[in-house]
Amino acid sequence: MAPSDSDASVGTAVEAEYVPVVRTSVSPGIAPTPFASDELRESIQTLQELIPLARANLAKEHWDYLVGGSETEATVRRNRMAIECLALRPRVLRKLTQIELGTTLFGQRLSLPLILAPIGGLEAMDPAGAAAAAAAAATAGVMMCLSSACQPGPRETAAAAPVGSPKIFQLYVRGDRSFIAENVEVALACGYQAFCLTVDTQLYSRRERDFLNRFSKPWRKGADDAATNQSASQAALSWDDVEWFKQTYPDLPLLLKGIATAEDAELAVELGVDGVWVSNHGGRQLDAVRIDAAHLRFCWTDASTRHARQHACGHHSLPLVFSVVQPD
Ligand SMILES: Cc1cc2nc3c(=O)[nH]c(=O)nc-3n(C[C@H](O)[C@H](O)[C@H](O)COP(=O)(O)O)c2cc1C
Repeated sequence: MAPSDSDASVGTAVEAEYVPVVRTSVSPGIAPTPFASDELRESIQTLQELIPLARANLAKEHWDYLVGGSETEATVRRNRMAIECLALRPRVLRKLTQIELGTTLFGQRLSLPLILAPIGGLEAMDPAGAAAAAAAAATAGVMMCLSSACQPGPRETAAAAPVGSPKIFQLYVRGDRSFIAENVEVALACGYQAFCLTVDTQLYSRRERDFLNRFSKPWRKGADDAATNQSASQAALSWDDVEWFKQTYPDLPLLLKGIATAEDAELAVELGVDGVWVSNHGGRQLDAVRIDAAHLRFCWTDASTRHARQHACGHHSLPLVFSVVQPD
């Protein structure tokens, strides 16, 4: 039975049919990301080892910004629980001598159906900022999505990876349509193959950990300044702007990040949007919002959103990875 869109179930096992895709050709595997030293490679082989080192390497306010969510952080916890509730139905005896995980997204060949999510303020965590992420993504053959709230900016970040590396530019809108147009021009000039508007951040959330740390994020300075109040532009965004974007740039793939209902996925598809990033911003925006796994279920089961599904983008939840891997 198709789930109802009003069903806000938490903790219900969501089953996903998983039939491995086996193709005759095998894409080049994932090249190991270069480590600074053999010693480092030896000492970090699992996330369990990586996470404490990362934590020890960061100032408390940066760590809390990285791992925290909004308000009570209920959505962060529920997202994790929802992912653990996802259950596979593995089919067997499919001749797995050759496994193909590669896919094509926005015309770009990827070794895995993954996108590095846009992360603002990476420069606070690594001096190379987004450039380090871009280089790592290119080495791994996955898509990079650069946040406009991240240094060293679109030009230098693009230059950190080989020409033609798969990349998307994500924009927080800090001005009128001419601001969007300027950013599109820069993104195109730098070789970004798609453009992303984050649409779940019209009003910035209350991040309690940042308040507790009295942490004022340098990368949000213009947005938060009472004098400039750049956030007002993001708050003013509407579907009219999406329509304008697709009419003005019909050949530039547009991705809306932060879609959470089937109705909005449908609106996006009607306006010609090329990708719907089903997300609740990792629980960092609206708290107590529906969980990611439920978003995915509701957005996907609606037949009219199948078009969007075909162009679905990266997500840390498993089903979307499967969806991109598996032909419909
Ligand atoms: C430290 C941090 C910074 C982030 N900065 C941005 C950003 O600048 N732009 C954006 O669209 N999303 C940003 N996000 C949200 C992520 O892109 C992503 O939506 C989130 O990690 C949850 O993943 P999901 O959307 O695949 O569910 C940030 C997330 C984190 C953890």
